[in-house]
Amino acid sequence: MIDAITSTAAPRIFSGVQPTGNLHLGNYLGAIKQWVALQHDYESIFCIVDLHAITVLQNPDALRKATLEMAAAYIAAGIDPEKCIIFPQSMVKEHTELAWMLGCSTPLGWLNRMTQFKDKAGKHKDQASLGLYGYPVLMAADILLYHATHVPVGEDQKQHLELTRDIAGAMNRQVNAELFTIPEPLIMGEATRVMSLRDGTSKMSKSDPSDMSRINLSDDDDTIRRKFQKAKTDMEPGITLAENRPESANLLRIYASLADISSKQAEAQFEGSEFSHFKKELAELTISQLAPMRDEMQRLLKDKAQLKAILKRGSEAASDIAATTIKDVKHALGFVRV
Ligand code: TYM
Repeated sequence: MIDAITSTAAPRIFSGVQPTGNLHLGNYLGAIKQWVALQHDYESIFCIVDLHAITVLQNPDALRKATLEMAAAYIAAGIDPEKCIIFPQSMVKEHTELAWMLGCSTPLGWLNRMTQFKDKAGKHKDQASLGLYGYPVLMAADILLYHATHVPVGEDQKQHLELTRDIAGAMNRQVNAELFTIPEPLIMGEATRVMSLRDGTSKMSKSDPSDMSRINLSDDDDTIRRKFQKAKTDMEPGITLAENRPESANLLRIYASLADISSKQAEAQFEGSEFSHFKKELAELTISQLAPMRDEMQRLLKDKAQLKAILKRGSEAASDIAATTIKDVKHALGFVRV
């Protein structure tokens, strides 16, 4: 039996974003905006998952830059670094350590079901790296290391969260103890899956070759106006949430999420309006929320020493928790400590 179990009774959230390219409106509405609201009710740990980023080749200078930008974006969006732990994943070595241990108890069959791997590896599965394949195991390690009770993410991460729960359950049964807390996904808000502005059936994503498909948090006001104005819509009359009108439904959900109203309310608000009017309103609402964040991010990025100090403090706090968990796991698995 395990003699020191560190599972926490306090509700604790853990989440992260990959420091690859620009943050977009999907990342903001699906994840970061939700974290900002949750930080008051949960002990909060927000990671910049640079080890996940290198599952595809990164330019080292670009990765360093994106990591600091991500820290600035978290804070500019309203995450309070005095209250929450913010840190880069690679600064806490226990993430990779636990990932190996979990990987040894994760059947290949479970990983083969992961749709994200299938999407990312595409037809060239044999050329995909072991890291890309094991990506969800590292994500499970991130979460289980901190005994997170809840994980706020967008809809696309749901399958990874289910795998995390399966891995935690399997490990607990293997060692016959409550070694890991089983985390609950928190998929919140009206925009849990923001779709591309060019195609309402595919997800808004950093990797879409068309910049017109997404609103970046760094876009200037005119670019935001232009992107919404050019956003694809159909020729049908009416702005609706109807399933067969994916572009219209997507824009309504974005509006609702920004305005903190339900999508039904947004639909009622624009009943009978022209798309051109709705798109203008949507652009101005987006600008009113993103512009102050963009400016604050630029201000924070002027003082890199201060940002690095926040990340250092966060890494130390995270390491304290992670080290205790790893000690328990090593003991449970039978490693000798001398
Ligand atoms: P990443 O970097 O792809 O995305 C970060 C967060 O943004 C959400 N998201 C979206 N939400 C709504 N609509 C969209 N179009 C959209 N695109 C992205 C994602 O769901 C996510 O919440 N594997 C994760 C990072 C990660 C992680 C973790 C998350 C690593 N370890 C532990 C939670 C807990 C990822 O690649 O996110």
